[in-house]
Amino acid sequence: ASSGELSGKKVMITAGPTYEKIDPVRFIGNYSSGKMGFALAEECARRGAQVTLITGPVQLKTQHSGIIRVDVESAEEMYKAAQAHFPDADAGILCAAVADYRPVTVADKKIKREKEEELTLHLRATQDIAASLGAIKRKQQCLVGFALETNNEQQNAEGKLERKNFDFIVLNSLNDAGAGFRHDTNKISIIDRKGRTDYPLKSKTEVAQDIIDRLVAALSPNF
Ligand code: C5P
Repeated sequence: ASSGELSGKKVMITAGPTYEKIDPVRFIGNYSSGKMGFALAEECARRGAQVTLITGPVQLKTQHSGIIRVDVESAEEMYKAAQAHFPDADAGILCAAVADYRPVTVADKKIKREKEEELTLHLRATQDIAASLGAIKRKQQCLVGFALETNNEQQNAEGKLERKNFDFIVLNSLNDAGAGFRHDTNKISIIDRKGRTDYPLKSKTEVAQDIIDRLVAALSPNF
């Protein structure tokens, strides 16, 4: 892993959760910490890339001066930022845990508890950022996705690889102890159209090195 391998390259990374507003004080979110995406951003910058890190709400700081950070809150904001930055990038890594649904309307006042036992929220599907970028991806660009599966992981990951037009997809299974959301460690497999590589449980920093090694290979013209 030489330090200048990505110099002159632009990499766009999405990270963290998204928050979808319900009313002025509530949202729908998820447990994503952003750690994996931030580790990937640091690793790309360390190897000389110019990184744009589009992140949902997280408790993390960026260290490297090669990282331009764009803070967003909702899936809609992340979609707009990603659409704006991807055309100019050599690679996109979509690590964010984007909400699949958002409330159809946002209440302008705090929703009060009523006498009724049930409250129904109407939700609408958000844009699939990954699929939208896969559809505009140019031949020289590389697009990397993530999948977190609880069942049929191989089949689901392969489906996403095709549907979202990824060059490869990083699979993390929730079934592995120490892997996934909020942990400092992760256990991944990388799946592309040629096959699957399994990696042992490692720190997210080391996992980021494995993923970026794979990205460097995919970006090299004689790969
Ligand atoms: O379909 P699923 O959400 O499991 O796909 C996961 C991959 O797609 C991840 O790379 C994630 O960042 C990306 N994604 C996205 N926009 C969405 C949903 C998922 O970019 N609305």
